[in-house]
Parts: sequence; C-alpha cells; structure tokens
Amino acid sequence: MSYRSMAVPFVQGWDLVQTLGEGAYGEVRLLVNRQTEEAVAVKVIDTSQAKECADNVKKEICIHKALNHANIVRFFGHRKEGQTVYLFLEYCSGGELFDRIEPDVGMEEQEAHRLFLQLIAAVEYLHSIGITHRDIKPENILLDDKDNLKLTDFGLATMFRHKGRERLLTRLCGTLPYVAPELLSQTEFRAQPADVWACGIVLTAMLAGELPWDQPSDSCQEYADWLQKKTYLPPWKKIPPTPLSLLSKLLLASPEGRMSILDIKKDRWFTQTYKAGGNRQSHSHGPAHKFLKSDSGQSRTSSDDRMQFSSSQPDPPPGSSTWETTVCLREAEVSFSQPAKPEHMLLGSQLLGTPGASQTPWQRLVRRMTRFFTTLDPDGSFCALRDTCLGLGLTFKHTCANQVTVSTYDKRNSKLIFKVHLLEMDQRVLMDFRLSKGDGLEFKRHFLKIKQKLGDIISSQKVQLPAT
Ligand code: ADE
Repeated sequence: MSYRSMAVPFVQGWDLVQTLGEGAYGEVRLLVNRQTEEAVAVKVIDTSQAKECADNVKKEICIHKALNHANIVRFFGHRKEGQTVYLFLEYCSGGELFDRIEPDVGMEEQEAHRLFLQLIAAVEYLHSIGITHRDIKPENILLDDKDNLKLTDFGLATMFRHKGRERLLTRLCGTLPYVAPELLSQTEFRAQPADVWACGIVLTAMLAGELPWDQPSDSCQEYADWLQKKTYLPPWKKIPPTPLSLLSKLLLASPEGRMSILDIKKDRWFTQTYKAGGNRQSHSHGPAHKFLKSDSGQSRTSSDDRMQFSSSQPDPPPGSSTWETTVCLREAEVSFSQPAKPEHMLLGSQLLGTPGASQTPWQRLVRRMTRFFTTLDPDGSFCALRDTCLGLGLTFKHTCANQVTVSTYDKRNSKLIFKVHLLEMDQRVLMDFRLSKGDGLEFKRHFLKIKQKLGDIISSQKVQLPAT
C-alpha cells in the first residue's frame, strides 16, 4: 500500500501523513514529499489560544532559525496562515528519548553515555552563543534515523548573554521535576547552571528509569534525602558509582558549586571509553544496574519490551576498538532524507482542510515501542482495552471512530492523558498508544500495565508495518 492513498496534501508536492506528537502549543506532524519521499516535521501552533502566544512563537522562530548544530533539530523555515503558524523542522525518525527509557530500569549505561555526550554538546553550543533552552527534558530530546540526539522545542529559550554581558534570569519556567532548586528559592539566577541541572535529571532518568523528585524543594522528601546523600535509596542505588559521582556534582544544590560544562567535559565517567561490543573497562554490558538485586532479592532480568527495545539499537561500528569520547554522529545508511530545498514548502499552495486523523503505514517511520498487535477483531480489541482500562481505574472515553482517550492522575497527582488508536491492518488490529499530556515515564508505566493485563490477546508478531 502506498502512503499516497491515505495522505493529505498540505503544501504542493508534500503530504501530511501522520501526527508525531502533541503538546500545549498544538501538534507536530510528519510531511512527506510525494516524489522524493523526503520527510520533514511541521509544528502547528495555534496562536489564538493566548495573547502572548504570537510573540512567543516569534521568539521561538528567531532563536531556532539562528541555531546550527548537529545535535539540535534543524529549523527549515516557517509559514503563517491566519492565526496558525507552521514551523518546518528536521524530522527525527528515531522518536523521543523517552521511548528509549524503560520505566524503573533506564537504558544501557553505554547508550546513556553516548546520548549524554551529545546532549552536553548541544547545550554547550547553545551557551556558547548566549542561548539557554530552559526546558531540557526527555520529551524535548529526539533521535534521528542514526540514533543521534537532537534537542528541540525552543519555545522557552531565551538569550542570557549579549555582546559578552550576561544577564540573570527571573522567570520561573520549565517543568518542575527538571527545574534547578535556585529557580524555586531565588528571584534571580544564572541560566547556565539551571540547564546543567536539567541535564543531570535527564541523565538520572536514562540510568534509572525514574525521575528523582517532583520538585527540588526541602518539602519534597526525595529531594531532602538526596541532600542528605542517602544514595542507598532509589533511583541512586541503581546507578553505578562513576556516573553517580558525576550526578552528585551536576545535582549540587548550590549553582555556584555546580559543575560547569567545562568541568563536565573533564569528568571521569564523561571521558570514559567503552570497548567495542559494549563492555566498559570495568563493568559488564547491560542496563546501568544489571548487577544489582531488585527489592525482592531476585536479579532483574530484561523484560520483553526491554529486549525489543535493545534490538532496535545499532551495534557499535564494526572494527572500532573503542567508543570515542568526542561527540560524533552515527553514520549509517540514510533511510529518509531531509529536504534539499525546504523553501519549496514555504511558498504558494493552500492548506487543504484539516488532515484526517487516520494513521498510515508511514507509522513505520516512527520507532515507537508503545504499540502492539492484538489477536482479536476490532470490536473484541476495543472491549478488551475498555475493560482493562476501567479495571485499572482509568477514565476511558471513546473520542472518535478508531480512537479512545484515557485519562488519570499519576503517582505525583499530575494529570496524565493518552490516546489509543485502534487500526485495522491486514486483518489484524494495531493498538497504538500516544501520550497527550503528562510525564512520559508515567505514560510508559501505564502502557506496560495495560499491556501486561492484555497479555492473552497480544499477538506475538512484532509490529512490522508493510513497506510502501
Ligand atoms: N516530534 C516532535 N518533533 C518532532 C520531529 N522534529 N521529528 C519527529 N518527531 C517529532
């Protein structure tokens, strides 16, 4: 089947094929060129929601278009149609960093190391040109087709240095579990240490599969425990000593004492090399805490998801004896190229109505682990999903023909909303889960719980969508 049969023209020669993500701003969709099959992401922002929105988008465009770094999502251009602004961005077919983190487990230490180096390269670049991101978190970190990290969403970014003069920030913004403590305790604070703190929280999530606290305030027990160096508690007890030592200096309460990026680049874990095949000099290959016993006293083993997830990771380059500590881009065959002439999308042609919500075989472009095939027909699949969600105390709403919206409150009492598309493909039903609002790790936890309960009706066949 060709994507053309289900795609909706958007800009002449380009079809909108599917929604990639949703956020407070609006949606990000995938655009594919009919002839060349080049892919770009388009972020659709409805500026009519709030009066400051149009100015915020202008600032986002102004900052994002000035950026040029291998670990930052490229900005191709923008278009304005009435109250809607379209930002054309590099398409990252590897999806969100969140999808590489197994809840409560994390990911391979070596993979976390590689991604952390690339994240620091992106942030170092931003700081070198006087820009702070202010919302670094796994939801804003994407991966391309070669698994290179790409920082995105400059909606909260701002300039903190101009003509060599630094200005202190005053605005409390970002996402609470990732904000540095000085944002909550001081009226003025420096930009760079706050971004470094958020990188430390991302590293914790990658190595332990959980966020350490709701917010870094003394009233939060987990944060108070960290200040008291209780590293025998989770998430810290899951993290090996060398990266934990780095984390203790990234997540230092005092912004003055906190590591700078220059210091990070000299850190022992940061500069560590890994042997080909994945062995770190002193530890075996595996999740960061593979050597630890779980609370039940049994060794942790990889879940089915974990193995699926690991197998999607490319191997180290053949013949390489070590992993370079310098940040390098993965080279592999290019499966979906970025547009050679992105300006073509910014000219002429009309928006032909709202694209249909239908998902297409182009989903195969998006490497997401939050989906599976069932062994039942559409009605049976729908009922099984509904009963499971209701049984788990989740709010279940049939929002449109093939889509349901599930909502609940997570363990931090924050709202969590996700959508499930039920798609009939080749006489099978694909259940595709996507986060709409809330914490990505909590979403994954809920997904895994539902998947476990639906175990009997899940097809053992892996999600391998038809080639176009
Ligand atoms: N989700 C949000 N932005 C994206 C992008 N640029 N590529 C792929 N998925 C995305």
